[in-house]
Amino acid sequence: MTSENPISAAQVDAVVAEALAAIAAASDLTALKSVRSSVLGEQSPIAGLNSQLGKIAPEFKAEAGKIVGQARGSLNQAYSARETELFAAEERAKLAAESVDVTASPLTARIGARHPLALLQEQISDIFVGMGWEIAEGPELENEWFNFDALNFDVDHPARAMQDTFFVEPVESHLLLRTHTSPVQVRSMLEREVPIYVLCPGRVFRTDELDATHTPVFHQVEGLAIDKGLTMADLRGTLEHFARSMFGPDAQIRLRPSFFPFTEPSAELDVWHPGAKGGARWVEWGGCGMVNPNVLKAAGIDPEEFSGFAFGMGIERTLMFRNDVKDMHDMVEADVRFSEQFGLVL
Ligand code: PHE
Repeated sequence: MTSENPISAAQVDAVVAEALAAIAAASDLTALKSVRSSVLGEQSPIAGLNSQLGKIAPEFKAEAGKIVGQARGSLNQAYSARETELFAAEERAKLAAESVDVTASPLTARIGARHPLALLQEQISDIFVGMGWEIAEGPELENEWFNFDALNFDVDHPARAMQDTFFVEPVESHLLLRTHTSPVQVRSMLEREVPIYVLCPGRVFRTDELDATHTPVFHQVEGLAIDKGLTMADLRGTLEHFARSMFGPDAQIRLRPSFFPFTEPSAELDVWHPGAKGGARWVEWGGCGMVNPNVLKAAGIDPEEFSGFAFGMGIERTLMFRNDVKDMHDMVEADVRFSEQFGLVL
Protein backbone atom coordinates (compact mmCIF):
# COMPACT_ATOMS: atom_id res chain seq x y z
CA MET A 1 0.00 0.00 0.00
CA THR A 2 1.13 3.40 -0.71
CA SER A 3 0.70 5.97 2.03
CA GLU A 4 1.02 9.70 1.62
CA ASN A 5 4.02 11.74 2.59
CA PRO A 6 3.11 13.32 5.96
CA ILE A 7 4.75 16.54 4.86
CA SER A 8 2.94 17.58 1.70
CA ALA A 9 4.08 20.11 -0.86
CA ALA A 10 0.78 21.96 -0.45
CA GLN A 11 1.32 22.25 3.31
CA VAL A 12 4.82 23.61 2.77
CA ASP A 13 3.58 26.01 0.10
CA ALA A 14 0.95 27.35 2.48
CA VAL A 15 3.56 27.93 5.21
CA VAL A 16 5.83 29.66 2.70
CA ALA A 17 3.01 31.83 1.32
CA GLU A 18 2.03 33.00 4.78
CA ALA A 19 5.62 33.72 5.78
CA LEU A 20 6.29 35.60 2.52
CA ALA A 21 3.18 37.72 3.07
CA ALA A 22 4.35 38.61 6.59
CA ILE A 23 7.80 39.54 5.25
CA ALA A 24 6.32 41.67 2.48
CA ALA A 25 3.97 43.37 4.91
CA ALA A 26 6.81 44.58 7.14
CA SER A 27 7.05 48.25 6.19
CA ASP A 28 10.32 49.08 7.94
CA LEU A 29 13.35 47.36 9.44
CA THR A 30 11.93 47.33 12.94
CA ALA A 31 8.73 45.66 11.75
CA LEU A 32 10.76 43.20 9.71
CA LYS A 33 12.86 42.24 12.76
CA SER A 34 9.77 41.60 14.78
CA VAL A 35 8.36 39.14 12.21
CA ARG A 36 11.69 37.30 12.04
CA SER A 37 11.01 34.86 14.88
CA SER A 38 7.48 34.11 13.69
CA VAL A 39 8.58 33.28 10.12
CA LEU A 40 12.10 31.86 10.64
CA GLY A 41 12.58 31.36 14.39
CA GLU A 42 12.52 28.12 16.41
CA GLN A 43 8.78 28.37 16.99
CA SER A 44 7.96 29.19 13.37
CA PRO A 45 5.87 26.82 11.18
CA ILE A 46 8.83 26.15 8.88
CA ALA A 47 11.04 25.20 11.87
CA GLY A 48 8.19 22.93 13.01
CA LEU A 49 8.18 21.18 9.61
CA ASN A 50 11.92 20.85 9.79
CA SER A 51 11.81 19.09 13.14
CA GLN A 52 9.03 16.82 11.83
CA LEU A 53 11.49 15.54 9.18
CA GLY A 54 13.33 13.52 11.82
CA LYS A 55 10.19 11.71 12.77
CA ILE A 56 8.77 10.65 9.39
CA ALA A 57 9.20 7.28 7.71
CA PRO A 58 12.55 6.91 5.93
CA GLU A 59 10.98 6.53 2.43
CA PHE A 60 9.47 10.07 2.65
CA LYS A 61 12.50 11.72 4.12
CA ALA A 62 14.34 12.55 0.92
CA GLU A 63 11.42 14.24 -0.79
CA ALA A 64 10.12 16.03 2.29
CA GLY A 65 13.66 17.09 3.15
CA LYS A 66 14.03 18.62 -0.30
CA ILE A 67 10.83 20.67 -0.24
CA VAL A 68 11.27 21.83 3.34
CA GLY A 69 14.91 22.71 2.61
CA GLN A 70 13.92 24.66 -0.50
CA ALA A 71 11.17 26.43 1.44
CA ARG A 72 13.59 27.48 4.20
CA GLY A 73 16.04 28.65 1.57
CA SER A 74 13.48 30.77 -0.20
CA LEU A 75 12.22 32.27 3.09
CA ASN A 76 15.76 33.18 4.16
CA GLN A 77 16.33 34.73 0.77
CA ALA A 78 13.07 36.67 0.84
CA TYR A 79 13.88 37.91 4.32
CA SER A 80 17.31 39.23 3.42
CA ALA A 81 16.06 40.74 0.14
CA ARG A 82 13.36 42.60 2.07
CA GLU A 83 15.95 43.64 4.62
CA THR A 84 18.22 45.09 1.91
CA GLU A 85 15.28 46.87 0.30
CA LEU A 86 14.04 48.43 3.54
CA PHE A 87 17.56 49.43 4.57
CA ALA A 88 18.06 51.26 1.25
CA ALA A 89 14.69 52.98 1.58
CA GLU A 90 15.53 54.17 5.08
CA GLU A 91 18.90 55.47 3.93
CA ARG A 92 17.24 57.37 1.11
CA ALA A 93 14.71 58.91 3.47
CA LYS A 94 17.47 59.89 5.89
CA LEU A 95 19.54 61.55 3.16
CA ALA A 96 16.51 63.38 1.83
CA ALA A 97 15.70 64.65 5.32
CA GLU A 98 19.27 65.81 5.91
CA SER A 99 19.81 67.31 2.47
CA VAL A 100 20.75 70.97 2.20
CA ASP A 101 19.43 73.11 -0.63
CA VAL A 102 22.52 75.05 -1.55
CA THR A 103 20.48 77.28 -3.83
CA ALA A 104 18.09 78.37 -1.08
CA SER A 105 18.67 81.81 0.36
CA PRO A 106 20.31 81.38 3.73
CA LEU A 107 18.83 82.55 6.99
CA THR A 108 21.18 85.30 7.99
CA ALA A 109 21.51 87.73 10.80
CA ARG A 110 20.28 91.26 10.07
CA ILE A 111 22.55 92.65 7.37
CA GLY A 112 22.40 96.22 8.59
CA ALA A 113 22.80 99.14 6.23
CA ARG A 114 25.54 101.41 5.04
CA HIS A 115 25.71 104.80 6.68
CA PRO A 116 23.91 107.46 4.63
CA LEU A 117 26.92 109.78 4.94
CA ALA A 118 29.12 107.16 3.30
CA LEU A 119 26.53 106.65 0.56
CA LEU A 120 26.18 110.38 -0.08
CA GLN A 121 29.95 110.80 -0.14
CA GLU A 122 30.17 108.06 -2.75
CA GLN A 123 27.40 109.54 -4.81
CA ILE A 124 29.13 112.92 -4.86
CA SER A 125 32.42 111.27 -5.81
CA ASP A 126 30.67 109.44 -8.66
CA ILE A 127 29.31 112.69 -10.09
CA PHE A 128 32.82 114.13 -10.33
CA VAL A 129 34.50 110.93 -11.47
CA GLY A 130 31.86 110.97 -14.22
CA MET A 131 33.30 114.33 -15.34
CA GLY A 132 36.83 112.94 -15.38
CA TRP A 133 37.91 114.27 -11.98
CA GLU A 134 40.13 112.24 -9.64
CA ILE A 135 39.60 111.53 -5.96
CA ALA A 136 42.34 112.93 -3.71
CA GLU A 137 43.06 112.18 -0.09
CA GLY A 138 44.96 113.88 2.68
CA PRO A 139 45.73 113.17 6.34
CA GLU A 140 43.28 114.03 9.12
CA LEU A 141 46.20 114.81 11.45
CA GLU A 142 47.51 117.72 9.42
CA ASN A 143 50.41 120.11 9.51
CA GLU A 144 49.42 123.63 10.50
CA TRP A 145 51.20 124.89 7.41
CA PHE A 146 48.89 122.96 5.03
CA ASN A 147 45.75 123.76 7.00
CA PHE A 148 46.43 127.52 7.35
CA ASP A 149 49.73 129.05 6.16
CA ALA A 150 49.79 127.64 2.64
CA LEU A 151 46.15 128.66 2.33
CA ASN A 152 47.10 132.29 2.90
CA PHE A 153 45.88 132.59 6.49
CA ASP A 154 48.03 135.18 8.29
CA VAL A 155 49.80 133.98 11.42
CA ASP A 156 47.41 135.95 13.58
CA HIS A 157 44.49 135.71 11.20
CA PRO A 158 41.31 135.49 13.27
CA ALA A 159 40.13 132.64 11.05
CA ARG A 160 42.62 130.36 12.80
CA ALA A 161 40.73 130.94 16.01
CA MET A 162 37.42 131.27 14.19
CA GLN A 163 37.77 127.74 12.92
CA ASP A 164 37.96 126.45 16.49
CA THR A 165 40.95 124.29 15.92
CA PHE A 166 41.98 121.18 17.84
CA PHE A 167 45.73 121.74 18.15
CA VAL A 168 47.78 118.66 19.01
CA GLU A 169 50.41 118.68 21.72
CA PRO A 170 53.27 119.44 21.80
CA VAL A 171 52.43 122.82 20.26
CA GLU A 172 55.89 122.93 18.63
CA SER A 173 54.87 119.97 16.47
CA HIS A 174 52.52 122.33 14.62
CA LEU A 175 50.12 119.45 14.16
CA LEU A 176 46.37 119.81 14.30
CA LEU A 177 43.22 117.96 13.34
CA ARG A 178 42.37 119.50 9.98
CA THR A 179 39.55 122.01 10.27
CA HIS A 180 38.56 121.71 6.62
CA THR A 181 39.47 119.67 3.53
CA SER A 182 41.19 122.67 1.89
CA PRO A 183 44.71 121.51 2.89
CA VAL A 184 44.22 118.76 0.30
CA GLN A 185 44.17 121.52 -2.32
CA VAL A 186 47.78 122.36 -1.48
CA ARG A 187 48.84 118.72 -1.17
CA SER A 188 47.26 117.95 -4.55
CA MET A 189 49.05 120.87 -6.22
CA LEU A 190 52.38 119.75 -4.76
CA GLU A 191 51.89 116.08 -5.65
CA ARG A 192 50.27 116.31 -9.07
CA GLU A 193 51.04 117.78 -12.44
CA VAL A 194 48.76 120.47 -13.81
CA PRO A 195 46.08 120.39 -15.09
CA ILE A 196 44.48 119.20 -11.84
CA TYR A 197 40.86 118.22 -11.32
CA VAL A 198 40.45 116.62 -7.91
CA LEU A 199 37.67 115.99 -5.45
CA CYS A 200 38.49 115.31 -1.81
CA PRO A 201 35.81 113.99 0.50
CA GLY A 202 36.97 113.56 4.08
CA ARG A 203 36.62 113.96 7.81
CA VAL A 204 37.28 117.31 9.48
CA PHE A 205 37.31 118.50 13.08
CA ARG A 206 36.26 121.61 14.99
CA THR A 207 35.86 122.25 18.70
CA ASP A 208 32.06 122.37 18.56
CA GLU A 209 29.77 120.73 21.07
CA LEU A 210 27.53 118.02 19.69
CA ASP A 211 24.00 119.37 19.34
CA ALA A 212 21.15 119.18 16.84
CA THR A 213 23.11 121.02 14.14
CA HIS A 214 26.79 120.70 15.17
CA THR A 215 29.25 117.91 15.67
CA PRO A 216 32.98 118.20 16.42
CA VAL A 217 33.73 115.54 13.79
CA PHE A 218 32.09 115.95 10.42
CA HIS A 219 32.71 115.59 6.71
CA GLN A 220 33.39 117.96 3.88
CA VAL A 221 33.93 117.56 0.20
CA GLU A 222 36.47 119.79 -1.48
CA GLY A 223 36.81 120.42 -5.17
CA LEU A 224 39.85 121.88 -6.88
CA ALA A 225 40.48 122.58 -10.56
CA ILE A 226 43.73 124.09 -11.87
CA ASP A 227 44.15 124.63 -15.58
CA LYS A 228 44.98 127.27 -18.16
CA GLY A 229 42.28 129.90 -18.51
CA LEU A 230 39.79 128.71 -15.88
CA THR A 231 37.34 131.42 -14.86
CA MET A 232 34.47 131.92 -12.49
CA ALA A 233 32.19 130.75 -15.33
CA ASP A 234 33.82 127.29 -15.13
CA LEU A 235 33.25 127.28 -11.37
CA ARG A 236 29.60 128.22 -11.87
CA GLY A 237 29.05 125.61 -14.57
CA THR A 238 30.64 122.87 -12.49
CA LEU A 239 28.61 123.75 -9.39
CA GLU A 240 25.41 123.96 -11.42
CA HIS A 241 25.97 120.47 -12.83
CA PHE A 242 26.78 119.21 -9.34
CA ALA A 243 23.62 120.83 -7.89
CA ARG A 244 21.39 119.37 -10.63
CA SER A 245 22.86 115.90 -10.19
CA MET A 246 22.13 116.11 -6.48
CA PHE A 247 18.82 117.98 -6.32
CA GLY A 248 17.22 117.39 -9.70
CA PRO A 249 17.07 119.24 -13.04
CA ASP A 250 15.21 122.22 -11.54
CA ALA A 251 17.98 122.99 -9.06
CA GLN A 252 19.78 126.33 -9.44
CA ILE A 253 22.76 127.90 -7.78
CA ARG A 254 23.51 131.40 -6.57
CA LEU A 255 26.87 132.90 -5.58
CA ARG A 256 27.04 135.64 -2.94
CA PRO A 257 30.24 137.65 -2.37
CA SER A 258 32.19 136.42 0.65
CA PHE A 259 35.71 136.03 1.97
CA PHE A 260 38.14 133.13 2.33
CA PRO A 261 41.90 133.77 2.56
CA PHE A 262 42.60 131.06 -0.04
CA THR A 263 40.18 132.25 -2.73
CA GLU A 264 39.87 135.58 -4.51
CA PRO A 265 37.19 136.41 -5.38
CA SER A 266 35.28 134.28 -2.88
CA ALA A 267 31.62 133.43 -2.70
CA GLU A 268 29.04 131.71 -0.60
CA LEU A 269 27.20 129.07 -2.58
CA ASP A 270 23.43 128.73 -2.22
CA VAL A 271 21.36 126.07 -3.92
CA TRP A 272 17.73 126.31 -4.98
CA HIS A 273 16.38 123.03 -3.62
CA PRO A 274 13.18 122.21 -5.52
CA GLY A 275 12.40 119.13 -3.43
CA ALA A 276 12.86 120.77 -0.04
CA LYS A 277 10.40 119.61 2.60
CA GLY A 278 7.88 122.40 3.04
CA GLY A 279 8.51 123.85 -0.43
CA ALA A 280 11.33 124.84 -2.78
CA ARG A 281 13.76 127.31 -1.25
CA TRP A 282 17.34 128.65 -1.28
CA VAL A 283 19.70 126.83 1.07
CA GLU A 284 23.26 127.79 2.03
CA TRP A 285 25.41 124.98 0.76
CA GLY A 286 29.11 125.87 0.91
CA GLY A 287 31.97 128.19 0.02
CA CYS A 288 33.85 128.67 -3.22
CA GLY A 289 36.02 130.99 -5.25
CA MET A 290 38.96 131.37 -7.58
CA VAL A 291 42.16 130.00 -6.03
CA ASN A 292 44.13 132.92 -4.57
CA PRO A 293 47.38 133.51 -6.55
CA ASN A 294 49.28 133.35 -3.23
CA VAL A 295 48.06 129.77 -2.76
CA LEU A 296 49.15 128.82 -6.28
CA LYS A 297 52.57 130.33 -5.53
CA ALA A 298 52.86 128.47 -2.21
CA ALA A 299 52.29 125.26 -4.19
CA GLY A 300 54.82 126.17 -6.86
CA ILE A 301 52.32 126.95 -9.62
CA ASP A 302 52.75 130.10 -11.73
CA PRO A 303 49.57 132.22 -11.33
CA GLU A 304 50.42 134.00 -14.58
CA GLU A 305 50.07 130.74 -16.50
CA PHE A 306 47.42 128.86 -14.54
CA SER A 307 44.28 129.71 -12.69
CA GLY A 308 41.95 127.60 -10.63
CA PHE A 309 38.73 127.39 -8.74
CA ALA A 310 37.82 125.61 -5.51
CA PHE A 311 34.71 124.84 -3.54
CA GLY A 312 33.85 123.04 -0.34
CA MET A 313 30.72 121.99 1.50
CA GLY A 314 29.64 119.92 4.48
CA ILE A 315 28.30 116.45 3.80
CA GLU A 316 26.25 116.26 7.04
CA ARG A 317 24.65 119.57 6.19
CA THR A 318 23.90 118.38 2.66
CA LEU A 319 22.28 115.22 3.99
CA MET A 320 20.25 117.27 6.49
CA PHE A 321 18.53 119.49 3.98
CA ARG A 322 18.51 116.99 1.12
CA ASN A 323 16.90 114.17 3.10
CA ASP A 324 15.20 116.24 5.80
CA VAL A 325 17.27 114.90 8.68
CA LYS A 326 16.49 117.16 11.62
CA ASP A 327 18.98 116.09 14.26
CA MET A 328 22.74 115.67 13.94
CA HIS A 329 22.61 113.06 16.73
CA ASP A 330 20.96 110.64 14.29
CA MET A 331 23.99 110.84 11.99
CA VAL A 332 26.52 110.49 14.77
CA GLU A 333 24.95 107.66 16.73
CA ALA A 334 25.07 105.15 13.86
CA ASP A 335 21.86 103.44 14.92
CA VAL A 336 21.10 100.95 12.17
CA ARG A 337 17.40 101.87 12.33
CA PHE A 338 18.37 105.34 11.09
CA SER A 339 20.67 104.06 8.35
CA GLU A 340 18.17 101.47 7.13
CA GLN A 341 15.72 104.15 6.09
CA PHE A 342 18.10 105.21 3.36
CA GLY A 343 18.37 101.70 1.94
CA LEU A 344 21.43 100.83 -0.01
CA VAL A 345 21.05 103.71 -2.43
CA LEU A 346 20.23 107.24 -1.43
N1 PHE B 1 37.24 125.41 3.44
C1 PHE B 1 36.10 126.29 3.50
C2 PHE B 1 35.33 126.02 4.80
O1 PHE B 1 35.58 125.04 5.45
C3 PHE B 1 35.17 126.10 2.33
C4 PHE B 1 35.79 126.49 1.02
C5 PHE B 1 36.42 125.56 0.26
C6 PHE B 1 35.72 127.80 0.58
C7 PHE B 1 36.98 125.92 -0.97
C8 PHE B 1 36.27 128.16 -0.64
C9 PHE B 1 36.89 127.23 -1.41
O2 PHE B 1 34.50 126.79 5.19
